[in-house]
Amino acid sequence: MARSRIIVALDFPDGGAALRFVERLEPNACRLKVGFELFVAAGPDLVRALVQRGFPVFLDLKFHDIPNTVAGAVRAAARLGVWMINVHASGGRRMLEAARRALPDGTARPHLVAVTVLTSLEAAELREVGIVHAPQDQVLRLARLAQDCGLDGVVCSAREALLLRRALGTDFLLVTPGIRPAGESAQDQRRVVTPAAAVNAGADYLVVGRPVTRAPDPMEALQAIEAEIGPA
Ligand code: C5P
Repeated sequence: MARSRIIVALDFPDGGAALRFVERLEPNACRLKVGFELFVAAGPDLVRALVQRGFPVFLDLKFHDIPNTVAGAVRAAARLGVWMINVHASGGRRMLEAARRALPDGTARPHLVAVTVLTSLEAAELREVGIVHAPQDQVLRLARLAQDCGLDGVVCSAREALLLRRALGTDFLLVTPGIRPAGESAQDQRRVVTPAAAVNAGADYLVVGRPVTRAPDPMEALQAIEAEIGPA
């Protein structure tokens, strides 16, 4: 069976809670994302445990530092056996190239994707940090830079996916959070998109957190999203 395009965000406060939740999932049914909160609490052992259980793991630590430090972090992440790693595109060309070079060539290596502009930032906040372009222009600029530096894709809002897909071609991964099945609460997300709309806009992978982690039956919630987006 083709692997799922759904990446479940494991936003849990500790490793025990994350593993208890993961026990309820089948490794073929989804991928898992480990972000700052869980990684700071539970560390690389938890990541290894998830990989060991057969889940493809996206280590969402958004590295952003000098090239040498980021290259070292990417190398260490790859050694954990994860499927996907990310860095901030705003770290610049030399940092992005160093991150890419830190991974071996070939298909067994993790995907390396970039964060462009955090979707939590609005135009006024961007201006305050010196970015005067429209947010969408900045997203496209950084996505092009990431592609030029040999990265495999970007994390982006599903609302930007169509623009990026057209500008960057089909061979560039688009990973989109902010997904809510029709009729579900947006919670603290602001501009949510349904799974089907995200896929139609060109998303390759959908990051879904609470609609699955807080569902009474997480496998049922996953299957409902799969049914909505259809086969890969
Ligand atoms: O629970 P929910 O589906 O909102 O979780 C979305 C996940 O995607 C969270 O882990 C959040 O940190 C992450 N994310 C996001 N928006 C971004 C980047 C990451 O919601 N722009």
